[in-house]
Amino acid sequence: MTQVVLTEIHGKVGLIRINRPEALNALNNDVVDGIGAAIDAFEADENIGCIVLTGSEKAFAAGADIGFMKDFDYMHAYQTDFITRNWERIKTARKPVIAAVAGFALGGGCEMAMMCDMIFAADTAKFGQPEVRIGILPGAGGTQRLPRAIGKAKAMDMCLTARMMDAAEAEQAGLVARVIPAGQLLEETLKAAQTIAGFSLPVVMMIKESVNRAFESSLNEGLLFERRAFHAAFALEDQKEGMAAFAEKRKATFTNR
Ligand code: HXC
Repeated sequence: MTQVVLTEIHGKVGLIRINRPEALNALNNDVVDGIGAAIDAFEADENIGCIVLTGSEKAFAAGADIGFMKDFDYMHAYQTDFITRNWERIKTARKPVIAAVAGFALGGGCEMAMMCDMIFAADTAKFGQPEVRIGILPGAGGTQRLPRAIGKAKAMDMCLTARMMDAAEAEQAGLVARVIPAGQLLEETLKAAQTIAGFSLPVVMMIKESVNRAFESSLNEGLLFERRAFHAAFALEDQKEGMAAFAEKRKATFTNR
């Protein structure tokens, strides 16, 4: 049987590839559980400092698998806690997760990319929330994360008309962090991930937690959270090492302590 999720380790980076080319990487339980298991393994591996989630050249993921969902009834969706049960493992990852998106990122594929900490897009990427066309709505965070990323006007446009957004528009609108020529997407994303993984992991985790807090709190509560984390950073050996290395004009060696 083909493995629908493949993993590789590149230095200190864990790479997860969605591998259902025959269905443009449509997301079923095997894929989502596989991604969750890979995240579990990379989070437990102390040599890994950053995770990259990617698909193929043609599709990051063209959505939740429509064949898998089409006969669901309400009680099944509710009782199995569809989406919340396994998709949200990406959201709970404590190490940074970068989505490297080429080709289609539609419906649940766009939503899964938005669950990651940032999106690097190939110039071939196409984002969309076309669920309205098949009689449902974005149900894996699209109606909430998209307006936070690109504002209400464009989010409404995408969710209500089902139009796709290309990489250039997505970058201009704030959905993606970088647009990269397709042939260099993985290389450039892995390079950025290695940079992150070279820093102090507890500091990286505190930064991720603090930035995410901005979306969960008032400004003053968020600032308080940041300040507590900032003060706590002075308890780290890596803070002593980082500042000593700067003063001594050498490269810091972090020990994640
Ligand atoms: C199941 C899918 C699929 C999907 C594509 N395929 N998307 N199978 N679920 N979401 C399959 C096709 O059936 C086809 O299989 C093969 O992949 C290739 O797709 P084509 O349509 O032949 O390719 P193309 O003409 O290039 O068109 C690409 C496309 C189109 C524009 C991306 O496939 C498309 O519109 N897909 C559906 C997109 C969508 O509606 N996504 C949202 C799903 S709902 P065969 O066997 O025929 O070759 C969703 C809900 C999220 O995501 C909320 C909760 C999770």
